[in-house]
Amino acid sequence: MCGIIGIIGKDNENVVAKIIKGLEKLEYRGYDSAGVAVVSDGNLSRLRAAGKLKNLIAKIEENGLSGSVGIGHTRWATHGKATENNAHPMMTKNVALVHNGIIENYRELKFELQKDGYTFSTETDTEVAAVFLQRELDRGCSPRDAFKNMLAAVEGSYAFAAIFSMLPETIMVAKNKSPLVVGFGKNMCIGSDASAISSECKEVVYLDDGDYAEVTREGVLFFDKSFNQIEKKRTPVSEDLIDSGKGTYEHFMLKEIMEQPNAIRKTILHNRIGEDILNGVSRILILACGTSYHAGLVARYWFEKFLKIPTNVEIASEYRYRSPIIEDNTLVIAITQSGETIDTLEALEYVRKHSNAKVAAIANVKNSAISRAADTVFYTEAGVEVGVASTKAFTAQLVVLAAIAFCRNEFFLQKLQNVPALCEEALALYEEIKPLAEKIKNAHSAMYLGRDVLYPIALEGALKLKEISYIHAEGFAAGEMKHGPIALIDDSVPVICLCPHNELFEKMESNIAVSMARGKNIIIFTDEIGAALLPNEAVKIVLPNINAEFAPILYSIPLQLLAYQTALIRGEDVDKPRNLAKSVTVE
Ligand code: AGP
Repeated sequence: MCGIIGIIGKDNENVVAKIIKGLEKLEYRGYDSAGVAVVSDGNLSRLRAAGKLKNLIAKIEENGLSGSVGIGHTRWATHGKATENNAHPMMTKNVALVHNGIIENYRELKFELQKDGYTFSTETDTEVAAVFLQRELDRGCSPRDAFKNMLAAVEGSYAFAAIFSMLPETIMVAKNKSPLVVGFGKNMCIGSDASAISSECKEVVYLDDGDYAEVTREGVLFFDKSFNQIEKKRTPVSEDLIDSGKGTYEHFMLKEIMEQPNAIRKTILHNRIGEDILNGVSRILILACGTSYHAGLVARYWFEKFLKIPTNVEIASEYRYRSPIIEDNTLVIAITQSGETIDTLEALEYVRKHSNAKVAAIANVKNSAISRAADTVFYTEAGVEVGVASTKAFTAQLVVLAAIAFCRNEFFLQKLQNVPALCEEALALYEEIKPLAEKIKNAHSAMYLGRDVLYPIALEGALKLKEISYIHAEGFAAGEMKHGPIALIDDSVPVICLCPHNELFEKMESNIAVSMARGKNIIIFTDEIGAALLPNEAVKIVLPNINAEFAPILYSIPLQLLAYQTALIRGEDVDKPRNLAKSVTVE
């Protein structure tokens, strides 16, 4: 979601081009408008534009904008439409401010400021913070006191960065629940994540909730929530955070799909998980959202079947609102690609408040908020994932979960080693999968069916298709079809079935027969034996034979390719699908 960047140029260098570069790096987070503000000779100026960054760049080229201290923002609209007028930075006479998060008490603050004679020109919650600062300055406060007073007044989540006309060499920042880092390099920087400022800074400080900092050319002053000055530890920017571009691929998503064998290999290598993770554990609770939640659903099958530990998987955004009970001896596992998802972070906060449970995180982004909030972290070694639709991070999450599930089972750990090569074989089916997209591209709805460990993969396949092609798609446990969803099947609805020759093959075969009796667009992903037994009227794609437990990893791949190809031929923006954000930092 929203991305923030700020740069203080060393030798009065104009930083606007560098701010734009940083905003380009933040694009993956998802946004629908953007803007930059600079302070120069005691004057603030800004330019903003709705839509993609190219619109902002065109405006800057047309109107000119320069300054050696500036802030930039990509906005993912929450309060107020994605218009230029609602784009950040918000600006008053003496302040320009950018914000990621939601100011929950904006109505009361707005009312109070209006009573004091201040007017508003946007539909955003953020504008109250800028106007509040202006009122405090008008009352004679210093910028520091104005900022302190504003922080004391706002409730909700925020990463703020502000510049002041009377303080032309400083960026003030603060964080609560939304991510923010301060970077040290030739130029001092701030950013929503370290990757955005990685070309400028080799070291960063990750701000904690309640932190406030004044960044100047000379260095940074950090303060805690009680405004006591504090020291913060600098962390080198991990090479893993720096994306290496699309290479020869048309899209990041395709590159990332193709990178899976290596991502899985590396993840296996770095995650030899000892049995001690399960010491004293009598329950497991998995918290995650979206694709990461689907990985958790697969793990539940593994954990209960092989570890014999009762496991719950919870949608993190729902979890803390139903006052759940956390039993003693629970191991909590948060799964997240970005490590920033606010729903998952908040769910962990609930866990901390209401139990002494051990918390482990499975994260892809090193040093991310969730990995820092956990007692133990297992990193998926998938490398930077830029495509909004998660692919390699998902299969790498499955690998870490498998390493936990089979930490007492050498036989399966050995079998896991074969998975990368099998994934290579699955990727080689891309040419065969491409024509299937023609069968789906005009559908108004598609159904994905699976059973057992492949049921969550049906959910994931459907999520991939809807995210990037905008075709409505749902995943179902195949046995549930007869309890309602079968009513949806007609000739126009593609039914995509996951049916390797496993213990439940006959059951799944019947579910397919029932679908075929009602629709004619049936696509089956199976293996050699399955293909020989399944009807020839359906389209069959034959995957390599794999141990049934690891089928979720393998069968994810053709579904990713199918979704990718469908979105491609529909002409959609595969890497940056509409309305979506890679990093979900608001509830
Ligand atoms: C995946 O394709 C999605 N874009 C989305 O569902 C994602 O998995 C979800 O937002 C959770 O993100 P996280 O793994 O970074 O926590």
